[in-house]
Amino acid sequence: MRLKSLSILVFAATALGGLEARAAGELNLICSADVVICEQLKADFEMTHDIKVNMVRLSSGETYAKVRAEARNPKTDIWWGGTGDPHLQAASENLTLEYKSAALDQLHDWAKKQAESSGYRTVGVYAGALGWGYNTDIFKAKGFKEPACWADLLAPELKGEIQIANPNSSGTAYTALASLVQIMGEDEAFDYLKKLNANVSQYTKSGSAPVKAAARGETGLGIVFMHDAVAQASEGFPVKPVAPCEGTGYEIGSMSIIKGARNLDNAKAWYDWALSPEVQSRMKDAKSFQLPSNKSAEVPKEAPKFESIKLIDYDFKTYGDPAKRKELLGRWDREIGAVAN
Ligand code: G6P
Repeated sequence: MRLKSLSILVFAATALGGLEARAAGELNLICSADVVICEQLKADFEMTHDIKVNMVRLSSGETYAKVRAEARNPKTDIWWGGTGDPHLQAASENLTLEYKSAALDQLHDWAKKQAESSGYRTVGVYAGALGWGYNTDIFKAKGFKEPACWADLLAPELKGEIQIANPNSSGTAYTALASLVQIMGEDEAFDYLKKLNANVSQYTKSGSAPVKAAARGETGLGIVFMHDAVAQASEGFPVKPVAPCEGTGYEIGSMSIIKGARNLDNAKAWYDWALSPEVQSRMKDAKSFQLPSNKSAEVPKEAPKFESIKLIDYDFKTYGDPAKRKELLGRWDREIGAVAN
C-alpha cells in the first residue's frame, strides 16, 4: 500500500514536472524589423507552441553590438529580421550558430546564398529595396520638385526636410551608406553625404522612423526601405515611395541563432517555423511588405516590384565584413556624425 501511494506520488511529480518544464519553456528573441510584425510573430508563435517568447525590438546595428557584448554570456537565443549585413558580420565573428533547417530547400536562391556564404550561421527571411518616401502634400505645398534621384536630395530648398537613420544603430542606414559607396565610389559617397547632411534634420535610431515622420508631416522625406514607405501609404498617409533613378541597394533581412543560446531547441523550433510559407504569407497582415524568402509564400501585392527597380549587384561579402563595417562607420562618425546637428 505504502509502495503504491509512493509510486503514485512519484508518477504525479514526474508528470507535473514534465508539464512545468514545458510551460516554463522560453525563447529570448531580438526582433530587428518593425515592431508590428515583431509582435505578430511573437503572438502567432506562442499560439502554436508551448513556449513563452521574451521579445525585444532593437535595430540591426544595436543588436549586433549587444550580441558582441554578450558573447561570453549570451542572453539572446534567436535574432529575427533586420538587414543581413550585421547578421553576416556576427557570423564571421563566430557569434552565431551553424544550423541547417530542413526548410532551406524551399527558399529562394538569394536567401540560400546568404546561408551558404555564412557557413549556415544566418539565413535570408525577406528582401527589400532601399529608396525613400516623401510627403506629397508637403512637396506640393512648398513647390518642391519630385525627388526621383539621389542627386535631387541635394537641392538647397530641401534644407531640413530629410531624415535618415544613423548607420551605427540602423541596418537601413548602413545599407544606404554601403549602397552609395558602391554606386559612387567611397570618396564621392562621403562627399555626397556631407552635402546631404545640410538637408538632414535628424539621424534617427531606427531605420523606418524617417518615413513615419514624413507620413505625419514632421519632415518632407525619409530615406528608408521602399516597403516601409509603401506601408505608410497603405495606411492612408500622403506618402509616395521612390526607387532612386541612379540605382539602389537592397537588404536580405536575415535570421540567426545565437551561439551559446540557452534555449537552443526552442530557437530551432522558431527558426524552422519562421521559414515556413504560412508564417511568411502572414507578414503582410502586419503591413510588412518585403519579399518573403520561402518560394511558396504569398508575395504581397503591395511589395515593391524588384524587376522595375534599378538594383545594384550589392556586394554582401565586402559590406557584410566586420572590418569594412568598422572602417565605414568610423569614417561616417568623423566626417558626418561629428558635424551633424
Ligand atoms: C524596417 C524594415 C525591415 C528592415 C528593418 C531594419 O523594419 O521594414 O525590412 O530590416 O527596418 O531596421 P533598422 O532599424 O536596423 O534600420
